[in-house]
Amino acid sequence: MSADIRQKAYITDKTELAPDIISMVLKVKLCRAALPGQFVLVYTGDGARLLGRPLCIADADGDTVRIVFRRVGEGTARIAESRVGDTLFVEGPLGNGYPVEGILEGGHSIALLGGGLGAPSLLYLARHLSAGRGERECRAFLGYKDSTLKHFLADEFVRLGMDTIISTDDGSEGTKGNVLDALKGTGKKPDLIYACGPLPMLSAVRKYAGDNDIKAYISLEEHMACGVGVCLGCVVKTVHKDEHSRVNNARVCTEGPVFDAKEVDI
Ligand SMILES: Cc1cc2nc3c(=O)[nH]c(=O)nc-3n(C[C@H](O)[C@H](O)[C@H](O)COP(=O)(O)OP(=O)(O)OC[C@H]3O[C@@H](n4cnc5c(N)ncnc54)[C@H](O)[C@@H]3O)c2cc1C
Ligand code: FES
Repeated sequence: MSADIRQKAYITDKTELAPDIISMVLKVKLCRAALPGQFVLVYTGDGARLLGRPLCIADADGDTVRIVFRRVGEGTARIAESRVGDTLFVEGPLGNGYPVEGILEGGHSIALLGGGLGAPSLLYLARHLSAGRGERECRAFLGYKDSTLKHFLADEFVRLGMDTIISTDDGSEGTKGNVLDALKGTGKKPDLIYACGPLPMLSAVRKYAGDNDIKAYISLEEHMACGVGVCLGCVVKTVHKDEHSRVNNARVCTEGPVFDAKEVDI
């Protein structure tokens, strides 16, 4: 099912944005245009890694895709070791993406909340939002562990016209605390939130949005195997029962990774 969408990808650019945070641009023909919030499965060419590593699309333009990832284990280390000119394999775009149609009309105040490696998928969304911005107020809240992460990608949000607010867990740069602390610190509630980051952060965003009656879309990370809805390795608990399976489950790889915060039980 998935083999026919796996494509050769040539690395055309590689930059270390901060220690162990790598940005790569891949020349690859995706099987269709990528939407913000979608992801790709990235495979190294050595055949040693059976499973692809899910990584968000940080940008896509014609026949290039950008990924930004942290080197954490064997798979991402192997991808990070690859050099400009090397070949990787990419499957995608996969998943649903952030809903933006319709939401782009009107003068909403939108907040993007990106904790750590949540920033890459929001960067591509920021590009879409900035294109037809109109009267909308768009703010990006980007959270980092500390200043050693050099507020990676923040400058790019600024260049896209986002009012960009940085926070660090230890207060070494920007607001002390997480992205939600930074948002609350502005004293201004948004009408719409898009969030991507670690589960505890997304859980807090879900509660904040619920308490304040704010529409929120959150992008979840789950361990994945097939990436195309077959293995059920990535299910998340949902509030409502699925119409067909009659269980309170959704697959992050196909029904997600982006969910209406009200719909998932995290
Ligand atoms: C939809 C989605 C989008 C993601 N986007 C990004 C991104 O843009 N940038 C980024 O740095 N990371 C992202 N991640 C997390 C990234 O996939 C993991 O860090 C990566 O798979 C770890 O692989 P590893 O072999 O280096 O680590 P190991 O810990 O050795 O991985 C062992 C296995 O667990 C899986 N795994 C480990 N951690 C995660 C995780 N957090 N989520 C899913 N699977 C995991 C691996 O794929 C692998 O199969 C995303 C995850 C998902 C599900
Ligand atoms: S990873 Fe197999 S169903 Fe989602």
